[in-house]
Amino acid sequence: MILVTGATGALGALIAERLSGRDDVVLGTRDPERVRGPLPVRTVDFDEPRTLTEGFTGVDVLLLISAGYGEDDTVIARHSAAIDAAEKAGVGHIVYTSLSADGDHLPYALPHRWTERRLRRSTAGWTILRNGLYAELLAFLATPSQDGRVTAPLGDGRLAAVARADLADAAVRVVTEAPLHANRVYELVGEEAIGGADLAEAYGPHVMYAPVTLAQARAHIAGSGAEPFQVPMLVGTCSTIAAGFMDRIGSELRELLGRAPRPALDIIRGGGREN
Ligand SMILES: NC(=O)c1ccc[n+]([C@@H]2O[C@H](COP(=O)([O-])OP(=O)(O)OC[C@H]3O[C@@H](n4cnc5c(N)ncnc54)[C@H](OP(=O)(O)O)[C@@H]3O)[C@@H](O)[C@H]2O)c1
Repeated sequence: MILVTGATGALGALIAERLSGRDDVVLGTRDPERVRGPLPVRTVDFDEPRTLTEGFTGVDVLLLISAGYGEDDTVIARHSAAIDAAEKAGVGHIVYTSLSADGDHLPYALPHRWTERRLRRSTAGWTILRNGLYAELLAFLATPSQDGRVTAPLGDGRLAAVARADLADAAVRVVTEAPLHANRVYELVGEEAIGGADLAEAYGPHVMYAPVTLAQARAHIAGSGAEPFQVPMLVGTCSTIAAGFMDRIGSELRELLGRAPRPALDIIRGGGREN
């Protein structure tokens, strides 16, 4: 049996949709009431380890979707509890959605690398999906202002952004043929790196790229009602892209998909809508 955690998240829901025709899949989420579709659902909350004992019973392959919203100690505690419980329940293989190697300078890299190290020491088999940053995230960061300016502080930096739907397709392939992917680390970044000027152009001739400074962006985000941990997360993402650390392209996504990845600019043009 395959269990997918985080079933109501954007990535989890796409994966659940793709697996909905199978009879060997169970969904896990903190809030089963919110799950739609035919698959059975269990309560799985990494912050409530007692839910994990029952949640992981009878599971052969666990797709552990990172629960990355929070300070590092919170996220590490979640992933630690999930892997401990999976081992105790006798789960044979854990597939983890991590972060691409070039993301090491991002403020949220540390819990991902902690989890990867924990998995390498696990008694279960493992596969690490090092997901690149979503095109949908870039669409969010670079939403044009009402007066037609993309102000995200990306400098001349570029991002090898990935469609979330492609990461869902890749995850589905790996969990449904897990033994073939044992002890593998996949770098799932896009095949084209895009920057602020490309984004503005994708929105049309009335939009221009006019980046603000990181300090201006920080003040804006902090004043927007964001949680304290989200401010460095979002500013740090822009800073890392601007400094040129996120433009490494790759072909492993294409290999897992068996086709070309969806172009990130198509996602941007579509306003971040996914399929
Ligand atoms: N590559 C990127 O650009 C990027 C961008 C944003 C986030 N991420 C990371 O990738 C993950 C999936 O992305 P997404 O787009 O699906 O994010 P999302 O829509 O914000 O979903 C958040 C996910 O975290 C899960 N979660 C939160 N707290 C949890 C807990 N205590 N126990 C178990 N699960 C918990 C949620 O599961 P339920 O609510 O269903 O329980 C949900 O699947 C995120 O959680 C984050 O770690 C990656």
